[in-house]
Amino acid sequence: MGNDIFTDMFDYKKIRAEFPIFSHHPDLIYFDNAATTHKPKSVIDAISNFYQKENANIHRGIYPLAAQTTMKYEEVRSKVAKFIQANSSNEIIYTSGTTASINLVAQSYLQPRLQEGDEVIISAMEHHANLIPWQMICKNAGANLRVIPINKKGELDLVKFKTMLSRKVKMVAIVHISNSLGTINPIEEIIELSHQKDIPVLVDGAQSVAHYSIDVQALDVDFFTFSGHKLFGPTGVGILYGKKIYLEQMQPYQFGGDMIKNVTFEETIFAEVPQRFEAGTTNIAGVIGLGASIDFVSSLDRVGVAEYIKGLTDYAMNKLLKINDLEVVGTAKNKSSIISFTLNNIHPHDVATFLGTDNIAIRAGNHCTQPVMDFYKITGTTRASFSIYNHTAEIDVLVEKIKEIREFFLSV
Ligand SMILES: Cc1ncc(COP(=O)(O)O)c(C=O)c1O
Repeated sequence: MGNDIFTDMFDYKKIRAEFPIFSHHPDLIYFDNAATTHKPKSVIDAISNFYQKENANIHRGIYPLAAQTTMKYEEVRSKVAKFIQANSSNEIIYTSGTTASINLVAQSYLQPRLQEGDEVIISAMEHHANLIPWQMICKNAGANLRVIPINKKGELDLVKFKTMLSRKVKMVAIVHISNSLGTINPIEEIIELSHQKDIPVLVDGAQSVAHYSIDVQALDVDFFTFSGHKLFGPTGVGILYGKKIYLEQMQPYQFGGDMIKNVTFEETIFAEVPQRFEAGTTNIAGVIGLGASIDFVSSLDRVGVAEYIKGLTDYAMNKLLKINDLEVVGTAKNKSSIISFTLNNIHPHDVATFLGTDNIAIRAGNHCTQPVMDFYKITGTTRASFSIYNHTAEIDVLVEKIKEIREFFLSV
């Protein structure tokens, strides 16, 4: 069974005990953390407490319960700002998740500015959420969506990228960590190169925010997006960070209550940033839960967490690569805790179904990155992604089960 060296540097059992899902499913081996993470009790309690003891709408009522909820909701905004080192909480917009955050930038920032012949640069490893919003506005404007190619290891071709940068490019939108290949992209360099040509950069941080400390000011990134549910927080809530100079130029693209200063039948004056981007009743309980998840993550030794998860990934890579006919898809030098693989010509859904019957939760398919699958000429991969409550002993079980599945399919 598993190698315990990691337990010395990181008390995974203590962490795991904070996640109620594992007391309900003690045998669950959860390796689908790139899809969503489980929630610690503190997050679940924060949401439950909110509904049981505090529920009220925000920015409207002036009675004490409503005022208190508004205060808590806005406190989380400051907490998020501090968490990603934003200059001001006014640069933090609540959305329903990464997808909504990217759509907001595409619709509110870029769409009104994009002209025929302009260009938007993305990469060949984008999640559909950071592809389709740009593709749609490019099509409408007669602009071109350009794609930074990748090599077989799943690394960006930065030489090519440099040649693509020109005055025609109006946005570079790039994933920080690829959800299907695990590649960690050199976003610092990409931002610097883009800024040399005055091009704003959006970084999709959906897969990075749980594992690494983000400092948006040090990165000098113009827009940064993430989802609560991949950060041990609730679903249905996410963040768009935007630099003030950009947010203040942006008109909202969703209209209604809570985003206005004044309304007549003739005209509406919008509220200031960030409220003008938060039309209607937002996911208040989700925001409260996100605050609790940030407290949880902040209470961890983040460098220790990153080392622990890197240790798990290296351990898994070593063992998986020894399995006959298993090929890891995405072998970048700089790789995160996401391992995609194919196993002979066995369909990834079959692999995942077999593993599922043994309580191993693992993802199979194209991972919302169909062009990545096209690039490798495969229909999909099986993907294991690790988090703080995983352990080497679980990886040992996975490896043995994969060997069994291979044997089984060879025998039929
Ligand atoms: C890299 C990346 N970007 C964007 C998304 C979309 O996130 P959400 O579905 O939370 O909006 C995901 C989700 O898997 C992702 O992995």
